[in-house]
Amino acid sequence: MTTPVRLGVNLDHVATLRNARGVDYPDPIRAARLVMEAGADGITLHLREDRRHIRDADLEQARALAIPLNMEMAATAEMVRIACALRPHACCLVPERRAEVTTEGGLDVAGQRAALGPVVTALRDAGIRVSLFVDPDPAQLDAAAGLGAPVVELHTGAYANGRAGELARLVEGARHAAGLGLEVHAGHGLTYENVGPMMALPALRELNIGHALVAEAVFCGLVESVRRMRAVMDAGQRRGGAG
Ligand code: PXP
Repeated sequence: MTTPVRLGVNLDHVATLRNARGVDYPDPIRAARLVMEAGADGITLHLREDRRHIRDADLEQARALAIPLNMEMAATAEMVRIACALRPHACCLVPERRAEVTTEGGLDVAGQRAALGPVVTALRDAGIRVSLFVDPDPAQLDAAAGLGAPVVELHTGAYANGRAGELARLVEGARHAAGLGLEVHAGHGLTYENVGPMMALPALRELNIGHALVAEAVFCGLVESVRRMRAVMDAGQRRGGAG
């Protein structure tokens, strides 16, 4: 029997909705409990430098729940300090620009080895599983393995935007990463419609999905939106990613 690919649910946009009114609802922690009930394997929260959605208190409350917590963060001294104190199950390092609407590209691990190396080491020393969010580029994957990161998350944004050749690039990237001994995750811009072919990525262990799930929850509720994604992923895995 094949092991199901894990589903991590990114809850940033529950906090976006809350912060739009400066009130205390909808509560990302209530959402965290519901997505786990619906079959998610963990949650992801991105603590941005400008705190535009997730806040420090959200992370602390999420950490208190007995569920796998993936903290998405930029490789800054402030974030490393917070992560090492919080000790989430995992940290995913992402590039971050203040003006961007969402994480637009992968980390330039090859170009930033000197800056990223100590961050990976500090997080690993704190017992945190570190992943690097990268484009499916062999040079970036080689650099990630060279820094001792155990996991890479492949950026699926270009695929989700329909760019020609991206599925093949992701398949090759996943194969390359697995060959380096890296655990393969993927995410960004995934929806019910485009997630199926992701199940063909060699050695894929986890998908991280947020915006589409929170958006669909407006119509059918969070439990149903996550259950449906779980079912689409499972069906895709049974078909080996075809169609
Ligand atoms: N993985 C990473 C590293 C991300 O930055 C994001 C977006 O915050 C996601 C996954 C989820 O992307 P989306 O919200 O488009 O599903």
